[in-house]
Amino acid sequence: MNQYFATVARGLEPIAAQELERLGAKEVRPDFTGVHFAGDSALLYRVNLWARTLFRVLVPIREFTCPNADKLYQEVQKIAWEEYLQPDNTLAVNSTGGNRQLNHTHFTALQVKNAIIDQQRQQFGKRSSIDTQNPDVLVNTHIHQARCVISLDSSGDSLHRRGYRPAVGLAPLKETLAAALLEMAEWEPSLPFFDPMCGSGTLPLEAALKGLNIAPGLFRQFGFETWQNFDKSLWEQLRLEAKASQKTELEALISGSDRDADILSQARDNAQRCGVVSQVTFTHAELSQVEAPADKGVIICNPPYGERLGDVQELGALYKLLGDVFKQRFKGWTAFVLTGNKELAKKVGLKASRRIPVYNGSLPCTLLKYELY
Ligand SMILES: C[S@@+](CC[C@H](N)C(=O)[O-])C[C@H]1O[C@@H](n2cnc3c(N)ncnc32)[C@H](O)[C@@H]1O
Repeated sequence: MNQYFATVARGLEPIAAQELERLGAKEVRPDFTGVHFAGDSALLYRVNLWARTLFRVLVPIREFTCPNADKLYQEVQKIAWEEYLQPDNTLAVNSTGGNRQLNHTHFTALQVKNAIIDQQRQQFGKRSSIDTQNPDVLVNTHIHQARCVISLDSSGDSLHRRGYRPAVGLAPLKETLAAALLEMAEWEPSLPFFDPMCGSGTLPLEAALKGLNIAPGLFRQFGFETWQNFDKSLWEQLRLEAKASQKTELEALISGSDRDADILSQARDNAQRCGVVSQVTFTHAELSQVEAPADKGVIICNPPYGERLGDVQELGALYKLLGDVFKQRFKGWTAFVLTGNKELAKKVGLKASRRIPVYNGSLPCTLLKYELY
């Protein structure tokens, strides 16, 4: 059995731990912004393919005490890098955390990279080239106080990048957070789902992927696919099984609306790319015109929070409208509003039955729950 570490957004550790258990992980142990777990390589592949709430799955290869840069270099040189990396493979190193003497992640990563390529030069007379965009092997260095863990990053790119959404200029919700909000709301595919301010559609699309049992990793590539020990036939088998277990029809309606027609066309393009365009309904509508698409269901939305004072005054009316629409037209539903602004949250004017703290990136937010009856 191998030890793994999944990195997750702050506050999502318990949700991520539950997800890992459902995927068959053993010895699941939540930590700060991550979850330790154990399993075989099939589990590593399965977690990358299926996890909806994790950022990255790391495979720790060495752990040591590391008070300074010299010790870091020496310890990294003790690793038999030829087991993971040949000079004709490309390499990238990233670094997180730090301590008093190793407090610049860029410098730490450089030190690790130098230790690796110096070893290769001594051993082979040649070294790996660096490719920060698409390396064959991505090494992660994590330093916390005097402890350093060197890991291989099996995901490559962060798992929130599902591969169905091109980079966008706006700041949509991360797919991992959207998936976690669906878990927090205890939404099940048998219930209708609606987001009346859906923007590029992240919440309805994550709901549709879950509702149709579509593995979120089917649209992208992973770091482990360019590793020396990559088991291609195992990977192909897992992908085939995932495709075979997809459903063709949703059990209940999943829909979104927004007043911005341009952003809705992005939502539809994203739906097209992940194969759910015929299943999810996106409607161009002002919040004031929205009607309940069913007699019960779950709403989750993240209205704009506004970062400047003027915005906050203007947005107060939008939050009040949201509360009025919920109360008047969504009886029988449960609504969740994610906001980073407590003053605005009060303007909804309904009594929240739960307040769940959530981080949206580095911004502390609250997910407010309203039972509408
Ligand atoms: C923070 S964004 C939501 C982002 C979305 N969750 C995503 O992942 O792309 C807020 C959205 O609310 C929409 N919006 C703001 N006021 C609205 C209104 N009065 N009626 C409908 N939509 C509105 C905006 O167009 C914007 O797309």
